[in-house]
Amino acid sequence: MEIERKLVIGLRTYLVQGNFKECEDQVEDARRAFPYAFIYLAACGLPPSEKMRATADEVTHYSTEPLGLGVPNKLIIEKALAEGALQLVIVDGDRQHFMATVKDLLDKYGQRSVAVIPERKKRFLFSREELHGPTVEDLLNGFLRLSFGCNLKDPAPGLYLFPNARTLSGFKFNAQHSWVGDAELVKNVFTHKLAVESPEISVREKTYSISRRDLVFNSFLESEKFFGVTLAEVAEFIKTHPEESLFGGNFFEIDRTVEAFGGFRSQLKIKGMKALVLAGGKGTRLKPFTHTIQKQLFPIANKPVLHYIIEKIVRAGIREIGVIVGPNKDQVKNALGDGSKWNCSITYIDQDDPAGLAHAVLTAKDFLGESSFLMYLGDNLLRDELGDFLKEFVDSGFAASLTLKRVANPANYGIAEIDSHGRIVRLLEKPKNPPSDLAIVGIYAFTHKIFGAIGRTKPSARGELEITDAIQQLCEKKENINYRIIDGWWEDTGTPESLLDANVLILSSAPPTPAVKGKVSKTAVVKGGVEIGEGTVIEGDCVLLGPSVIGAHCVIGSGALIGPYSSIGDNCSIRNAQVLGSIVLEDTAIDCTKQIIFSVIGKNCRITSDSPSKGIDKVTLRIGDDTSIKV
Ligand code: G1P
Repeated sequence: MEIERKLVIGLRTYLVQGNFKECEDQVEDARRAFPYAFIYLAACGLPPSEKMRATADEVTHYSTEPLGLGVPNKLIIEKALAEGALQLVIVDGDRQHFMATVKDLLDKYGQRSVAVIPERKKRFLFSREELHGPTVEDLLNGFLRLSFGCNLKDPAPGLYLFPNARTLSGFKFNAQHSWVGDAELVKNVFTHKLAVESPEISVREKTYSISRRDLVFNSFLESEKFFGVTLAEVAEFIKTHPEESLFGGNFFEIDRTVEAFGGFRSQLKIKGMKALVLAGGKGTRLKPFTHTIQKQLFPIANKPVLHYIIEKIVRAGIREIGVIVGPNKDQVKNALGDGSKWNCSITYIDQDDPAGLAHAVLTAKDFLGESSFLMYLGDNLLRDELGDFLKEFVDSGFAASLTLKRVANPANYGIAEIDSHGRIVRLLEKPKNPPSDLAIVGIYAFTHKIFGAIGRTKPSARGELEITDAIQQLCEKKENINYRIIDGWWEDTGTPESLLDANVLILSSAPPTPAVKGKVSKTAVVKGGVEIGEGTVIEGDCVLLGPSVIGAHCVIGSGALIGPYSSIGDNCSIRNAQVLGSIVLEDTAIDCTKQIIFSVIGKNCRITSDSPSKGIDKVTLRIGDDTSIKV
């Protein structure tokens, strides 16, 4: 009895809704099998139940979040040493293991100074989601095999016996997170040169559920750190020693898993980046519209340009966004808020005296800290997603990465010159005689090295600190610059013409799903993707051709024709007129007999005409807010 009193059974569990009974049963089984043992439960997740507390001698609820296996292992071993245990059993609190098995093993090995790490006759398959369970297990075990020659097939059985607990006193624990907690325990056993016994045992058959992709990948990450070898090296080792390290896994699944893990790791790095969106500037080339509206907020297909940009950044996995604001900062703040709408956080950074793009980066120094960051000019729209661009950047380890696009008018842009080896060798801002047609798109990725480069940059002829010149400074320091040449469309929405182009590109690349929230008369013709907002009335025999969008609470009167490629804002009324390939902002009324084509018409305008001719005279308009004209 006295001997058994010196037996500590340490159970470890992660309590969630639905597994309380399982753990209670396991604690009760332990009590029944070892009435006089000191039963200790180390639990995380939900608080342990009264029943667990009543049955065990001591219960520790150490965290509401799962912290991996290292923390409970450490707690249990420290408890055993504090209790002066002669023997220790560490066992999972789920019902995988039979207490009768524990008893048999203690009977068999109880008098010996060994560590018992059993082999399960049937191993669990972590087979949910796209990962192949047996391969994952072989890879995790491969870390132990490669780093200290652990020759066990199944070193994570969830049951460890130390028939002589005094052997534990020299064990060193850092309480490793994830499953590496068990690897740390096994490593201690090996480094202390304990004799290891690995009898085969039976376990309860059940489907095991700790197979979530992120848990597995986190475990790989922690293993890489703990053992100082990469998953790719482990994979290579397994492939060259399959006879001793493959127990159900296979080569194909190894390659797939290593590749998926690479993607996960890049995604984590991207998640650690910040984004800097530039939404200041006067928008001179967009006058008269920019007298009243900040240019990055101009709606394309009834949605502000900045909304497209924030959505794209969030889709790529970045959640911390700084927005540089200048004139009309309140407009920008109202349009974006705190970012919660997109599940990101937005910090506003004032740049009251705009002095170039590199100056904007300097202004954001406190926000950016040491992070790598994506810089996105708030008037740039592009078709492609950012995922591949950012993945290449974080994987390259280069100081910066650029998005480039071949253009017909390179003198209007920043230009990159590339040598015969495909390396960027020179960058020039709007050169008179461009050495290449590769324009720098307003989407860049930088490490914090850009700050040193900006420090070495002199103001340009237009008196600004150009970001192009700062990147040139990186080149001069022989830093590698990554780049990606895009094929998809790109619009720098700096002029009314480019707004119209962007409108066509957006409407044609993501055509509005024919969604009718308003009321359409039976005699009207609606063809192609036309989105009709709430409360909008389409009267009589008017014709709507997609792709087009019509906002909420509009009236499109009998005889009118709208589209294709037209975007009509909320609360507009359009009667008699034909509106084609145009952008009309909210609260505008058009009642005229002209064909309005390729036009940009601001908010709250009144457009009328005397002429009785219909659909013959064409007009192209650029009209700022609050304008009344007769055409
Ligand atoms: C800026 C950059 C230029 C880049 C362009 C992309 O020019 O200075 O290098 O090619 O954005 O939109 P900006 O449009 O401010 O004249």
